[in-house]
Order: sequence, then structure tokens, then C-alpha cells
Amino acid sequence: MKIKSAEFVISNSKVDQCPKSSLPEYAFIGRSNVGKSSLINMLTGRKALAKTSAKPGKTQLINHFLINKNWHLVDLPGYGYAQVSKSTKKVFQKFITAYFEKRKQMVCAFVLIDSRHKPQAIDMEFMQWLGEHAIPFCIIFTKADKLKPKELEKNINNYQAAMLEVWEEMPEFFITSASSGMGKDDVLEYIENINQQLRAS
Ligand code: GTP
Ligand code: MG
Repeated sequence: MKIKSAEFVISNSKVDQCPKSSLPEYAFIGRSNVGKSSLINMLTGRKALAKTSAKPGKTQLINHFLINKNWHLVDLPGYGYAQVSKSTKKVFQKFITAYFEKRKQMVCAFVLIDSRHKPQAIDMEFMQWLGEHAIPFCIIFTKADKLKPKELEKNINNYQAAMLEVWEEMPEFFITSASSGMGKDDVLEYIENINQQLRAS
């Protein structure tokens, strides 16, 4: 899919104030600093569409971007940031939960996982939560440029093994780098396929 236009629409912390349109939307979620905002910029080919930072906790609101005038990309705050209270360790900010529970036009959540790290409980628990709420998701491994190909392969294999301990099958997954553009075409094609199926239905 070619990105012809990418526009910022609105930021807010209330799911009720998200755009009223029923255009299909795709949300990017994951731990703070995993590279959600950078990936959105890479996918759209717009360097500063979503705000990025080396410091965790940069994205604090639900941010909607309108792509090609017919679907939304959503940049969300990270979970697992120190500000999340201990009692909700396994969850995250309330409004993120509300977003996923209420936003029916959210057709696929992309759960971002740093390809350098071992499987983390918070990500596994979050995917579990998505599963329990019947929310469709894929995995996007990020920062692939930071590893040698062999290490990357080993980490992805380890991750798959950990997933298969709790899931019957590995969800669809993509390996990406916001620096090199790796994975861009695959992710965009995946989105385009869903959009086409929705249009045909
Ligand atoms: P929060 O909004 O704080 O939750 O973070 P985020 O997940 O949106 O991460 P962000 O895109 O702001 O990136 C965090 C840091 O990682 C920045 O310093 C980025 O430059 C860096 N980064 C993100 N993606 C990549 C990547 O693919 N490769 C490399 N080398 N660095 C990356
Ligand atoms: Mg961000």
C-alpha cells in the first residue's frame, strides 16, 4: 500500500472523544520506549508525524492519525512505565483499557515487542488480556537493526516458543526496524488486506 496522505487528527485521554467515524483503525501498543511512535513514522514515511523520544513515557494520550483518508493509525502511551501503579501492574492506564474495550472500529492491535529482550511478563499478560477480550492482535518485533541476524533469529525463535506455551498458535508477527525500514511493506500489506476485506463485506 502506498501512503498518499497521513494527517494528525486528535489527541485525547477519553475514548468517547476519539473520532466518531467508523473507519477501520489499527492501534500500536507496547511497553514504553519499545518504538511505537517511531514505527508509525516509519510506516507512514513521515519523520515527525508521531512524537518520539529516547526517554520513556513520551506518548501520553490516544493519538489518531488519518491515513489515505480511509483508515486510522492510533499511537498509544506505553504500558509498563513507572507511573503505572503497582496494583495494576499487569494492566496499564485505565483509558487504554477503555480504548480497547470500547473502540469497535479497532480491527487489529499491533503489540510491539523489543526484539532484543527475553519475553517479559507484562507483554505476555497484556496479550492474554487481549485474548480474553477477543481483541484481534499481531506482534511486531521492533529495533531489529540493533541485533546481528543470528541473534535476532534466536530471539524470535525463543519468543515463539514462549508464546506456544500459552497459545495454541503463534499470532501473525512482523520483524521491523524504524531505522532501516525493515518490515514496512509487510505491515502495510497486512493492513491493506484487512481494509479490502472490510470494504468487500
Ligand atoms: P513511549 O511513547 O514513551 O511509550 O515510547 P514509544 O514506544 O513511542 O517509543 P519511541 O518511538 O519514542 O522510541 C523510543 C526510542 O527508541 C527512541 O530513541 C527511538 O529513536 C528509538 N527507536 C525506536 N525504534 C527504533 C528502531 O527500530 N531502531 C533503533 N535503533 N532505535 C529505535
Ligand atoms: Mg510514543
